[in-house]
Amino acid sequence: MSIKFPFFKKRKKKRNISLDRDNMPRHVAIIMDGNGRWAQQRGLPRVAGHKEGMKVVKDTVKTAVKHNIKILTLYTFSTENWRRPKSEVDYILRLPKEFLHTYLPELMENNVRIETIGDFNGLPKHTKEAVQYAKDQTKNNNGLLLNFALNYGSRLEIINAIKQINQDINQAKLSIEALDETLFSNYLYTNNLLDPDLLIRTSGEQRLSNFLLWQLAYTEFWFTDVLWPDFKEEVFNDALHEYQQRKRRYGGI
Ligand code: FPP
Repeated sequence: MSIKFPFFKKRKKKRNISLDRDNMPRHVAIIMDGNGRWAQQRGLPRVAGHKEGMKVVKDTVKTAVKHNIKILTLYTFSTENWRRPKSEVDYILRLPKEFLHTYLPELMENNVRIETIGDFNGLPKHTKEAVQYAKDQTKNNNGLLLNFALNYGSRLEIINAIKQINQDINQAKLSIEALDETLFSNYLYTNNLLDPDLLIRTSGEQRLSNFLLWQLAYTEFWFTDVLWPDFKEEVFNDALHEYQQRKRRYGGI
């Protein structure tokens, strides 16, 4: 007679996919989508999804460190996200402080450097202070660059770059003839970063939502139906595995 213990969870068999350590994307950018739906599916308020999403950020950083990925850019709050109810905006913009308060020691141990892209000054004081503190504390670390896109919008970034270029031309700091792709890139928030090699978007949506429009010109895209709070290491590994099967041609043959 076999006795069944329904309260023991069936342990999921771990999928073993092999990853080539020498062919890792150097820069991974992620649109972390689906927090609200994850919470709604569980009868929880939307912000519970954001809270869970924050924990998944920590796990994702760990995986990125493990794979020796150089840059991880996370779309944390867009310039369009201000259209959400104030209570949700307030909640999301408190998460960086909570995240850093909880995980900064671990990030330090892992040699992670924190940076941001986006309109930093437009953020609430408490968010700015917490993030600036983490930037200062981690500025000499030379492991993974954890780059939060906070109050970020790509079109605004491009318009601001054009305005700055115009100003520099008027002040004779730059000649229009000198303007090329590299120089233009230097006027973006990402000025000293490599472009992303891999873009991941969770939750089944397949659009860019005003994220890194210039920088993603030659990036490999990977979409999954998995909601961000369910983005476990295995899913990240699937994305990396798929990336490693792609042939990048940059317009050549
Ligand atoms: C999109 O899901 C998610 C956001 C706008 C917020 C992303 C924030 C986090 C993942 C947590 C922040 C973590 C740190 C470390 C600061 P959605 O709300 O649009 O989901 P939905 O499409 O299902 O409604």
